[in-house]
Amino acid sequence: MTPEESPTWRDYVAANARSAAHQRRARERVPTGASRALLRHPPFPFYTASTQGVYATDLDGNRRIDFHNNYTALIHGHGHPVVLEAIHTQLQAGTTYSSPGAQELALAELLCERIPSVEQVVFNNSGTEAVMVALRAARAYTGRHRIGKFEGAYHGAYDFVMAGGGNLPAVGDPVRLTRPVADVGGLPPAAIDDVVLIRYNDPEAVREAVRDHGDELAAILVEPMLGAGGVIPADPEFLAVLREETLRAGIVLICDEVITLRQAFGGAQSIHGLEPDLTTMAKIIGGGFPSGAVGGRREFMRVFDDADPRGTVSNLGTFSANPMSACAGYTTMKLFDAPAIARLNALGEYTRDALRAVLARHGAAAQVSGGGSLFQVHWTDVPLRDARAAQTADASLNTLMFLGLCNRGIQISKRGIGALSTPMTEVHVDLLVAAFDDTLRALTAEGWPVATPRDTA
Ligand SMILES: Cc1ncc(COP(=O)(O)O)c(C=O)c1O
Repeated sequence: MTPEESPTWRDYVAANARSAAHQRRARERVPTGASRALLRHPPFPFYTASTQGVYATDLDGNRRIDFHNNYTALIHGHGHPVVLEAIHTQLQAGTTYSSPGAQELALAELLCERIPSVEQVVFNNSGTEAVMVALRAARAYTGRHRIGKFEGAYHGAYDFVMAGGGNLPAVGDPVRLTRPVADVGGLPPAAIDDVVLIRYNDPEAVREAVRDHGDELAAILVEPMLGAGGVIPADPEFLAVLREETLRAGIVLICDEVITLRQAFGGAQSIHGLEPDLTTMAKIIGGGFPSGAVGGRREFMRVFDDADPRGTVSNLGTFSANPMSACAGYTTMKLFDAPAIARLNALGEYTRDALRAVLARHGAAAQVSGGGSLFQVHWTDVPLRDARAAQTADASLNTLMFLGLCNRGIQISKRGIGALSTPMTEVHVDLLVAAFDDTLRALTAEGWPVATPRDTA
C-alpha cells in the first residue's frame, strides 16, 4: 500500500474538504497555495481559521490541540489574556515609530539578566535575520569569512546557512567533515564553499574542523540541542570541546537559541554552563509577533556600536525592534518565569515517558527524543546522537502519524516535532497520547512496518 491509499490519508482528505478547495484556489495566486514552505505538507495543509488557548480551528471546523505552536514559538499558546492586554495598550500607542521606541530596553534588560553570556542585545525581525547579523558580526570581528555549522542543523533562510541540512553521510561512515549539499536552489557558490560542515555530538569532528580550517573560520554556529535536525540534545563533552577549541583558535562561538531558549531560565546554554561569544534568539521572545535578537559579550557587541572604532556592522530593518514585538515579547518572557519553566519541563518529561510507553507496548522500532518542553518521535531504532541517525527514520510512517493525529484532534509539526505551551496540563497530554496510541494501532492494522528495525547504511 502507498501512503495515498491508506485509510488514514483518505480520512484526512474527507475531513478537510474546505481546506482542499482553498488550496486549489490559493495555488492560482500563491505557489503551492501557502507562502511558508515549512507549513506545507501532503496531501494539502489544513488552513487555520482561528485559535484560542491550546486550540486551533481550521476552515472545516476541525478543532485540534496545538502541540505545534508555530514551530515552538508560542510558549503561552494562543491569546494569553495578559499578553493580549499589553498589546492592546501598545496598539493605541503605535505599532511602529519613526524614532527609536523606548520599549525594546525592557526586553533587552530581561534577556541580559537571564543569560549570563549576554551583556548587550540588538533586535531584528526573525531568527533568520539574527543569524545573518551574528555571522556578519563574527566576520567583521575576526576578518575571516568561512563559517562552521553542524550536520542537520537548521538556522533559518539566510543563504550561508542553507547547506548541509540534509543529504548526510550514513551513520556508519567515518567521515567527520562533509562537503555540504545545498538545501534549496538559488544559492551562490560561496554559500556552500564557505561552509565547513561538522558532524554533531562528535568532539573529534570539532577538533578536525578547527585543526584543518581554524584560521579561515569566522564563527561556528551551534544549537545546544539540535532542533529541526531531530530535537537531539548535545553531549556536555561535545560542547566543552567546542568552547575550548573555538577559544584557542579565535573563532566566534555563536549559540543559536532560537528554539532552545525555552528550555531553561538562562536558555539551554545555561544547562551546560556554555558561555558563547554571541547568542541568537527569536520565536518566544516575540510573544507571537515577528522578532529576532543577537546578544553577547560587550567585546563582541562592539561591532554594532557606532562610537567604537570597530563598530562597522549596522543592525538594520524598518521594523526591527518595533514596539509591538518588544511589548509582546517582554510580557511573554516575564510570564515565562522559573516556576513556569520548571512546570512545563516536568510536563515535557511526562509527555516523552508516556509516548515511549506507547511505543514499547506496540513493539515499535521507534524512539522519542527531546528535552524540556520539546519532543519528537523518530521512526527508527538507530541510536539518536546526530542528524545522520535521524535521517534513517521512515518518512511514510512520519507522514501517516502526522495525518492520523490531525484526524484525531492533535496538531504537531509535519517533521514530528511537538512543543508544549504553558496553558497545557496532563489532560491535554493524555489526549495526545491516546490519539498517538490509536493511530499506531490503526497503522499496524493497515500493515505499516511499525516494528521493522532500520539499518545504518
Ligand atoms: C535554530 C533555528 N535558528 C534559526 C531559525 C530561523 O528563525 P526564523 O524562522 O524566525 O527566521 C530557526 C527556525 O526554525 C531555528 O530553528
